[in-house]
Amino acid sequence: MDFELKSVSLDQSSRLSLDALLVAVPDGLSISASADNPLSRLISQALAPGGLEEGVGKLLVCFRPAGIKAARVVLVRTGQSRPSDVKKAIAAAAAQVRQPGTARVGLMLSTLTDVSDALPAAVQAMSEAHYVYTQTKPSAKPSPVRQVVIGVADASAVRDIHARACAVAHGIGVAREWANRPANHATPSQLAEAARSLARKGGFDCQVLGEKDVKALGMGAFLAVAQGSEQPLKFIVLRHQGGARSEAPHVLVGKGITFDTGGISLKPAAEMDEMKFDMSGAASVLGTFAALSQLKLPVNVIGVIPACENMPGGAAIKPGDVVTSMSGQTIEILNTDAEGRLILCDALTYVERFKPRAVIDIATLTGACVIALGAVRSGLFSTNDELAQALHAAGEASLDPCWRMPMDDEYAEGLKSNFADMGNVAGRAAGSITAAKFLEKYAARMPWAHLDIAGTAWRSGASKGATGRPVGLLMQYLIAQAQDSGTQKTTQRAPGRAKKR
Ligand code: BES
Ligand code: MN
Ligand code: ZN
Repeated sequence: MDFELKSVSLDQSSRLSLDALLVAVPDGLSISASADNPLSRLISQALAPGGLEEGVGKLLVCFRPAGIKAARVVLVRTGQSRPSDVKKAIAAAAAQVRQPGTARVGLMLSTLTDVSDALPAAVQAMSEAHYVYTQTKPSAKPSPVRQVVIGVADASAVRDIHARACAVAHGIGVAREWANRPANHATPSQLAEAARSLARKGGFDCQVLGEKDVKALGMGAFLAVAQGSEQPLKFIVLRHQGGARSEAPHVLVGKGITFDTGGISLKPAAEMDEMKFDMSGAASVLGTFAALSQLKLPVNVIGVIPACENMPGGAAIKPGDVVTSMSGQTIEILNTDAEGRLILCDALTYVERFKPRAVIDIATLTGACVIALGAVRSGLFSTNDELAQALHAAGEASLDPCWRMPMDDEYAEGLKSNFADMGNVAGRAAGSITAAKFLEKYAARMPWAHLDIAGTAWRSGASKGATGRPVGLLMQYLIAQAQDSGTQKTTQRAPGRAKKR
């Protein structure tokens, strides 16, 4: 889907050759009585009693209204036009324009007083509403919409915001697509191929390590998870060099379990299909890189994806097995279903070499996080206040919110083992926090945060499918970081070293 930004008045919009025209109608919109153009007249008539109902997302669809070129006009209430209102309203309106032949759609936002916050929300809603998964479903009808013309009062004032919004929407689409693909269409090898292809298109660097390399590096924990599967593991490293060579990179580590059966600690059958989404963290890293490269964001970012399956094969790890991680710390694998932390811990040790400004891992890590926060907010875990605040703020601003969870050292008690430096599980209580405490043992030397996206990365039930989260949050964070390092070139400051709270 292609978005074009244009300075357009209400009057002009009725003369644009469009198949459909969506118009945002905020509370208190005053159409001057003297405005003598077809669209203004239509709106003021719709605002009369019995017309357009009040409430965000309420809409009125008009077919071939007099004097307007677009065959279909959708008036939609945006209420107070906060970004969340706009997102909800445009999502509702977008669903009204999927008729065959509806290729060019206008989206009039010039009715809004503050378009800079509304624009990204509108672009995201439009793009998300028209994503259709077709890869393994040939009968699915893709959206007919090719082009969206966004009308604002002054396009030049919001050019940058528009470019950012388009890049983020593209990145979210990439993440959704890869997370949605079934495990037999998104193996570790296919994920690595996807990374290579994105890198070629986007002009960033991609390196893929295989089993031999990973063995040589001593990633005993990652290897242990992969050994039960026939599919070869891949360790993917992406580099977006947008800033100065001397600038420390932000590092994103994405969990890439392409299918999680639980291993020998086998999961129950119900809903096990959803464990194809267990590489959503990896998909969000791919999506973020797609967005970064489209934007040419002036910041250095490294993406790392440990990718493998968690299978109960004859060679699989068994409960009680002890493995040595790349850090040298040994781990007693008490539950083979707690595999995410095992592949992430080696990836965290690996990224120390980059002397990161900050490391953020993104993982569908625990069912406990779904119980704690549901599908609304991702879990945020960090011992670094500055980094945690930056990520929290990015989540709020991008409508991709997260919530900070506690990290008291007492939560690590249960990870003690009689046979290794630590166990990989700590009982049922506070499961998302004990998982984070496990990871912390591998990230103590870097400013680090962990996002548990188990509840937010996909929807279950009738609308089962990936959401593309938290690409929005990550991009918002990186854009803010790029702006920071741009304005503070001389006084540049990394988030402080990990502090114990
Ligand atoms: N991928 C799962 C977490 C998960 C479960 C995400 C359900 C979304 C929905 C992870 O690998 C896992 O199995 N975690 C275990 C950890 C436990 C054994 C300590 C869990 O949450 O049950
Ligand atoms: Mn698991
Ligand atoms: Zn898992």
